[in-house]
Amino acid sequence: MAKIPIQPYSGYLNPRSNDDDPALTHVGAGTPGGEYLRRFWHPIAMVAELKDMPMPIRVLGEDLILFRDKSGRVGLVHKHCSHRGTSLEYGIIGERGIRCAYHGWAYDVDGTVLDTPSEPAGSRLKETVCQGAYRTHESHGLIFTYMGPPDQVPEFPVYDTTVWPDDTELVPLKLDLPCNWLQAHENAADPIHTAYLHSIVTGVQFTPSFAALPVLEFAETPLGLLAIATRRCGDNLWIRASDVILPNMAQFGTGFVDGEKEKFALTAAFTRWITPVDDTHCWYIGWRQFNPVIDPRNEGRKENIGRNRIDLMGQTDERPYLERQKSPGDWDAIVAQGPIVKRTHEHLSWTDKGVAMLRRQLRAGIREVQSGLVPAAPRNYGKGIVPTYNNETILSVPQKDGDDKSLLQSFGHKVCKVAIESAHLPVGERQRHVERAVRAMQASGEFYDGLSQAPGQQQEDANA
Ligand code: FES
Ligand SMILES: [Fe+2]
Repeated sequence: MAKIPIQPYSGYLNPRSNDDDPALTHVGAGTPGGEYLRRFWHPIAMVAELKDMPMPIRVLGEDLILFRDKSGRVGLVHKHCSHRGTSLEYGIIGERGIRCAYHGWAYDVDGTVLDTPSEPAGSRLKETVCQGAYRTHESHGLIFTYMGPPDQVPEFPVYDTTVWPDDTELVPLKLDLPCNWLQAHENAADPIHTAYLHSIVTGVQFTPSFAALPVLEFAETPLGLLAIATRRCGDNLWIRASDVILPNMAQFGTGFVDGEKEKFALTAAFTRWITPVDDTHCWYIGWRQFNPVIDPRNEGRKENIGRNRIDLMGQTDERPYLERQKSPGDWDAIVAQGPIVKRTHEHLSWTDKGVAMLRRQLRAGIREVQSGLVPAAPRNYGKGIVPTYNNETILSVPQKDGDDKSLLQSFGHKVCKVAIESAHLPVGERQRHVERAVRAMQASGEFYDGLSQAPGQQQEDANA
């Protein structure tokens, strides 16, 4: 970190360096971070966005054309035609693949050259060329792609929060952010902002319960980390534990908790990726989950979800500027960090432990790829449905004599430990198991045990 002078009126002396931590933030082909990100599936579009015309799209700094051919298959190919480079956004979609408008070369969804119509009979030119193309996969209204080495395609991960409870409805959404992907993603590892940005500083944006300062803990999981924020709401304690899943995925609970009613929800209301468009643009893209476990009072609004629309205040730039100035939301705070946060200008505090942990995990993944290894998480995390750890838990644990912060930490830690350690259980059984175990701890008073040792445990140096 650059030395920043500690004296008043020192603007002139502040460092002018533009270190944006390129290893983590740059996403182009051949960059360390870009190569790492290319080992994973990423959502890039809502199915509803892809109509009957070719769709120009930029992903990981590459200009591409997304299309669905008339037999229903999705193609994602390099923008410029392999013949003489015109854009396939002007291509004609066929029964099979897409045909370039300029001289009629036709490409299948995998980039195979199907036709070079102006070549003489017997020409074998088409056998010597292949248009750049990437695999795609459709899931619950989203189109995903894998842009890495073709011989290392990972299994498409199916997370438990997308299949349980059985009546879960996944509603796709995609929001534009004109900034680097990492600062948008780091917001997930920074739960203290939900108190300040969403309540204390700017007024209540979600519910008044968010104004209570949470006790924080950050636990490493097989997928990345769990950002655990525990608050008191009267006699109840409320855990909002958010999955931060490598490299660019996260899950969250609802935005409308009032903390009044007990709740066990070992699932999520938001499952989202931050997919890089290029170094200075990204998408918040994923699903809003609707089911009675995560949203028992049916407060979500499906009709408000879609392209640059979400049923949570402050996630887009749609509000008037003055309103956003008076009560900035996540979109405003994240985009206002700049096109790419200048890391040399940062001063991480102890509440940034999750951010620091995430950066360490990302750097470790980048090093694995640079060493020729497959990154460990989540690609090697078994087969089948991938267990996750997101939970929204509200339980009566009244304050007693002594340090209430220690009680909050004990509660958050013990509940999330059970959630993490229950990952081997089948989807569906896990929720019942966690609720039973937590109820047993509540009945035995276990949350009050050992409180004298608890305070300050989480206050490790975020810069470590
Ligand atoms: S530039 Fe595409 S066919 Fe010639
Ligand atoms: Fe937020």
